[in-house]
Amino acid sequence: MSRAQFITLEGSEGVGKTTNLEYIKQLLGNKSIEYIVTREPGGTELGEQLRDLLLGHKHTGMADETELLMMFAARSEHLDKVIKPALEKGQWVLSDRFTDATYAYQGGGRGIEMQRIKILEDYVQGDCRPDLTLLLDAPVEVGSERAGKRSAPDRFEKEQSDFFNKVRSAYLQRASDQPDRIKVIDASLELEAVKRQIDQIMQDYFKQLGIQ
Ligand code: TMP
Repeated sequence: MSRAQFITLEGSEGVGKTTNLEYIKQLLGNKSIEYIVTREPGGTELGEQLRDLLLGHKHTGMADETELLMMFAARSEHLDKVIKPALEKGQWVLSDRFTDATYAYQGGGRGIEMQRIKILEDYVQGDCRPDLTLLLDAPVEVGSERAGKRSAPDRFEKEQSDFFNKVRSAYLQRASDQPDRIKVIDASLELEAVKRQIDQIMQDYFKQLGIQ
């Protein structure tokens, strides 16, 4: 049996992460894989408090570097308390966002140099990287329309389309740089068609790992 896998789900606002996360859980369950589900920023008590600070509106003028460091502070706690212990126990980890989001939002969106993010990634994570990343991609207008139908916008959702276009480009650039790990899913299609793409990727992945 292969070692426990670390899978992440990424995408901009309104691309259907929550719905599709449920579907991925179902696919793992069908294979009787033991897994945990978690999210970033968050996943620990301290991380969830950092999430509230990052997404809330109390600190709207937060410096970009502060935002970046808080993302990694939450991640450090998450790795230490949740992700690494689960993987060591043989449980797969399914995380709603991880470091690709930092490259996309803080790197692409805010314009922080990617090289600086890389330094923090190496420092905080050592050699821990996701094994597989599913990137739900849709044009910004599609995502914002769906996100707009939900609850009050958080500090990121308040950004303008220019910001989200940069986020999307940064995600797609990473996917084209790392095609073996990051699989792009066309999330602008109807739900059943999105699920079919996810199913195909996951079945190929299971096959690659020798999971029947
Ligand atoms: P969500 O998980 O509900 O989509 O909200 C998390 C928000 O935080 C989302 O707007 C993306 C943002 N984010 C970053 O900017 N950088 C990060 O590293 C992570 C994990 C999330």
